[in-house]
Amino acid sequence: MRTKLIVTLMIVAFAAVMFSMAVAEDAKHEYVGTKKCKMCHKKDGIFESWSASKHATAWDDLSDADKANKDLAKYYTTGTTAKGIALNNIQCEACHGAGADYKKKSIMKDQAKAVAAGMVIPTAEMCLGCHNDKAPAAVAAVAKDFDFAKAVAKGTHAKAKKAEAKK
Ligand code: HEC
Ligand code: HEC
Ligand code: HEC
Repeated sequence: MRTKLIVTLMIVAFAAVMFSMAVAEDAKHEYVGTKKCKMCHKKDGIFESWSASKHATAWDDLSDADKANKDLAKYYTTGTTAKGIALNNIQCEACHGAGADYKKKSIMKDQAKAVAAGMVIPTAEMCLGCHNDKAPAAVAAVAKDFDFAKAVAKGTHAKAKKAEAKK
């Protein structure tokens, strides 16, 4: 009887460890950088329209003093790749999630698979994670009377999408 109970407890404990490992595994996706997205998202105009947005150059446009200010980095940079390369500016993955596990064509084509592999479909809440009153003035200003559709049209690559649709 006693051995049975111990064995059961061990199985439960083992399952709990396996489960938490699976969860941790799920949450961790590596950044790859915009160059990797460009390979496929150049011909649809997405890369080009993003390049023309303020997000693409926000960090580069900062003064050296601002670049040295550690508090600004989280608003102006995207993350670090597995190889330790710092991704400056608001790159694709700042809004769409770290891409190492979803950038394969077979996964990208299938929205459900891409989301399961870490792709984020941006929402207003995601934008307001940066554009809020705790942010530096220039970033916070975007949150004033925030209208998601208008902010997307001005700040991301919605224009390319519309131009594409008209053809
Ligand atoms: C091997 C080619 C390829 C690469 C690399 C790639 N994509 Fe894609 N992506 C596609 C294809 C194909 C689709 C589906 C058709 C479409 O919407 O353009 C897609 C769709 C998307 C969508 C729309 C998904 C949806 O269902 O709403 C987003 C967002 C996206 N990609 C972001 C990225 C980002 C960010 C990167 C870089 C981390 C990236 N892609 C890299 C091929 C690629
Ligand atoms: C500031 C946030 C932001 C950044 C940076 C960004 N996107 Fe997006 N992306 C969005 C939003 C919001 C949408 C959905 C709105 C829409 O329909 O255009 C979207 C939609 C998309 C789509 C689907 C478009 C379609 O026609 O259905 C693709 C593909 C995409 N993004 C790829 C990229 C790639 C590649 C980059 C980098 C070159 C990038 N995005 C950078 C916010 C962003
Ligand atoms: C990682 C932080 C971050 C996220 C997430 C983010 N932004 Fe931004 N955004 C910035 C920064 C930084 C600037 C440039 C501020 C400046 O002028 O210095 C900016 C600028 C803008 C601007 C002003 C563009 C211009 O030409 O003046 C708009 C509009 C905007 N963002 C919309 C959005 C929308 C919509 C989303 C969500 C889909 C979003 N942002 C997500 C950081 C972010």
